[in-house]
Amino acid sequence: MENRAIHIKSFGCQMNKLDTGLVATALQDAGFRLTESVTEADAVIINTCSVRQHAEDRVLSNLGHLKHLKRHRPGMVVAVMGCMAQRLGNTLLEHEAVDIVCGPAQIPQLAELISQALARHEKHLAVTETIRRPVDAGDGVLDDFESAYSISDQQIPGQAFVRVMRGCNYFCTYCVVPYVRGPEACRSPKSILSQVRRLADAGVRQITFLGQTVNSYKYPSGERTYSLADLLEMATEVPGVEWIRFVTSYPCDEYYEDILRVMAESPKVCRYLHMPAQSGSDRILRAMNRHYTAAHYLEMLDRARTIVPDIAIAGDFIVGFSDETEEDFQATVDLVRRARYKNCFVFKYSPRPGTTADKRLADTIPEEVKQRRNVELLAVQDQIGEELSRAFLGCDVTVLVEGLSKKAHVNPMDAEDRPQLVGRTSTDHIVVFNGPPSLAGHFARVRITRTSALTLFGELASD
Ligand code: 5AD
Ligand code: SF4
Repeated sequence: MENRAIHIKSFGCQMNKLDTGLVATALQDAGFRLTESVTEADAVIINTCSVRQHAEDRVLSNLGHLKHLKRHRPGMVVAVMGCMAQRLGNTLLEHEAVDIVCGPAQIPQLAELISQALARHEKHLAVTETIRRPVDAGDGVLDDFESAYSISDQQIPGQAFVRVMRGCNYFCTYCVVPYVRGPEACRSPKSILSQVRRLADAGVRQITFLGQTVNSYKYPSGERTYSLADLLEMATEVPGVEWIRFVTSYPCDEYYEDILRVMAESPKVCRYLHMPAQSGSDRILRAMNRHYTAAHYLEMLDRARTIVPDIAIAGDFIVGFSDETEEDFQATVDLVRRARYKNCFVFKYSPRPGTTADKRLADTIPEEVKQRRNVELLAVQDQIGEELSRAFLGCDVTVLVEGLSKKAHVNPMDAEDRPQLVGRTSTDHIVVFNGPPSLAGHFARVRITRTSALTLFGELASD
């Protein structure tokens, strides 16, 4: 396999991006090289997402292209990894283009599976047979894989993601995650902290703790049980770590105030909470098996703002869930008006095979209605985002610089050696300004001169 070329394409959430990074590092360690070009690749890996049908459709259309490509390059190996691999298993292996199907828990085997497929041209299925057993109960293979191949995010200098838990125990009726990522399994504080230390020694300044419901992190050890609040506090003490974030939180009271208090007490814990509400209608929340009411959720936001006054909050919503009436939708609009999010993500309900909602409830809301509600909710949020952003006018903010900004038109280059850069504040606000590219991975002070709903624009404060 000496210097065989691998092309990786990744879909989906931060968890998937992290898996892609781990796999890429492990493959390079095994002697492969990465290539940007599909046509030059000896093997193509697609890391897939199953959360909505649209995500799966994009993968299937990619596999369609690869099927044609393989007719000209019969030796090429195609591996499908991630949630779709676990969900569809053998069905996916039957696809003409696919050689390897590898579930999220089998990624440590992927380099070996690809070597074998390149040598022998046999199809191979590697998924978890009984997904509701803890994925990494005994042997710690995944944990070791994570520790061995964790590196700073190749796209964003100075930043790294660290998974603190896998899976989910909540079973929201619309969601496929518990069926493809398995039950909650928390990594030990020891592994997490030693990984954070290694990343910090390698120059990482910002760590993001990842979990589907990261605030339910819990690890019993001897007399005590470690929570996310403990992890955050311990991570703040690691030399070199400047900022720590965590995503995504489930609206749940357990440890909630402990986590907020650590945030209030340490400037290293970023003032940002991503806590999806999904709906503002109690009837729909019940049908979704979410364990809170709209009033309780809003009260939780009040508590967050009391404990951490400068906190910024983001949310997710699903519009057009089964039987969502106009009245239910208006309750969601009302919740968005009251929540005053920094930003929110709105998704049209997409029934997922195997979930309780798909089995028991019909997908009753027409696509046009879902679309209209989606647009309407985003418009309400847009206005709020604009109002909240305006408060930053004239202020100096600290950002961790990510690199060159992709949207060059909004704030054109003011000199060749000072292109437009993008960074984020502790509150996760996106800030665009001109400066030297060498700032990527470093902190900078920026004076805000213009704002929009999702972006702040400014100038380096030292200029
Ligand atoms: N349809 C639409 N959106 C969904 N999400 C999860 N499952 C579905 C589904 N079946 C959304 C939720 C979640 C985000 C990651 O994706 O809002 O918070
Ligand atoms: Fe899915 Fe609900 Fe678990 Fe989030 S909490 S991953 S929406 S089941």
